[in-house]
Amino acid sequence: MNARRTVLALAVLALASSCFHFRRWRVPDDATAEVIYVRAACADCHGEDRWGTERAPGLRELEAHWTVESLAAYVAAPGENRDARLDALDAEYETDMPGSAFLSLAQRTRLARWLLGYE
Ligand code: HEC
Repeated sequence: MNARRTVLALAVLALASSCFHFRRWRVPDDATAEVIYVRAACADCHGEDRWGTERAPGLRELEAHWTVESLAAYVAAPGENRDARLDALDAEYETDMPGSAFLSLAQRTRLARWLLGYE
């Protein structure tokens, strides 16, 4: 039944977009990097203190591998911004780094600057 399929597809779309907006809504535009880090769920995997958990590596001394720009891009789309080191790191964990494209570029830049120790 095509009509039923269409209704189902619309329901799935509505649900997906409400999740997207919900996640965006949880992170105010002017949130500090610390608040973004917790509300965007980074802390759930990387640890509140950024020393890592069994789900994900620690986020310390990132400046050896990242610039503010490259880190802001990676946070939005980890699958597209990879190198051999990240693939090796990924293989150590069962979870994958999810993309946080619901964060604006300004929010991701703020987060990247903080993670790199600039503020
Ligand atoms: C579901 C768990 C999970 C969440 C949530 C998560 N990550 Fe990750 N992250 C990972 C895993 C696993 C890796 C290892 C590499 C990979 O999978 O690409 C990783 C890798 C990274 C790296 C690369 C570390 C390095 O040594 O270069 C950075 C930076 C990072 N995450 C930042 C973040 C930020 C910022 C957020 C929140 C916006 C976040 N992560 C949310 C699991 C997660």
